Amino acid sequence: MDVVDWLGLAESMHISTHQEKEAKRMRFYNKSSTDMKEVKTGSVHLIVTSPMYCMVEKWDSVYGLVDFEWQHNKLFGTWLECNRVLVEGGIICVNIGDATRSVNGNFECFPNCAWLTFNMKKYLGLTPLVPIIWKKISNRPNAFLGSGMIPPNGYVSQDHEMILIFRKGSPRRYPPKDPKRYASSFTKEERDVWFSQTWTVPGARGASETSSFPEEIPYRLIRMFSIEGETVLDPFAGACTTGIVADRLGRQGICYDIINYIPE
Ligand SMILES: C[S@@+](CC[C@H](N)C(=O)[O-])C[C@H]1O[C@@H](n2cnc3c(N)ncnc32)[C@H](O)[C@@H]1O
Repeated sequence: MDVVDWLGLAESMHISTHQEKEAKRMRFYNKSSTDMKEVKTGSVHLIVTSPMYCMVEKWDSVYGLVDFEWQHNKLFGTWLECNRVLVEGGIICVNIGDATRSVNGNFECFPNCAWLTFNMKKYLGLTPLVPIIWKKISNRPNAFLGSGMIPPNGYVSQDHEMILIFRKGSPRRYPPKDPKRYASSFTKEERDVWFSQTWTVPGARGASETSSFPEEIPYRLIRMFSIEGETVLDPFAGACTTGIVADRLGRQGICYDIINYIPE
């Protein structure tokens, strides 16, 4: 297990001096988040993450078996750990999409979003809140899957992902007029866009290897659901987008990934 030297990373990623200074707060663990013993129980205020989407072919070799429930069960150890480290009233935001593929000659939609929503409540007691529908702007029209212009065997194209939102227990409480809470406020314009159910945000550029989300996604979620000085965790960190943005926003970022995408 490695704890990466964040200052070295900041330098190699050409992050500005200002960010570099702030970035001292981030911790990256190059290991599986099914065991996050480095993180104290009840010490994380917000989790912003995006796991490998189950049944997406790209990840077959990591999962080992092409089976919907098997793949979700492999991730569940991480969700258990997330529940342990989260404070009472803490929030988990999970960016995930459904998967479509043919298995045994049968084209099918695998409902990752529904599975996770149902089981986070059933097994962890987390409260599902209204999710965000993230429409990624793309220059390419969606390819139609079917035979030309004739019914009935066409398939609807998938053009969005979800950001599922869960809360552990009751909403968090702060002392009246808490200065840090007020210092972390958003504007009315930001609130009107961020708390609407559909977000239109372009995907991250050049992110195919790491499957990164764009910084705008963790930026909004961190400002919506945490205050300055609090701790933000990403248990499936990829290129540590969440940790980098958390640092920039004056939060303590903690990242885990089995792959180290950080340049040596
Ligand atoms: C969709 S990517 C995350 C991308 C990230 N949001 C970003 O912006 O770069 C999912 C990541 O989960 C990691 N992963 C899968 N299983 C894991 C586990 N058990 N523990 C830690 N990381 C894991 C994969 O290596 C992959 O980098």
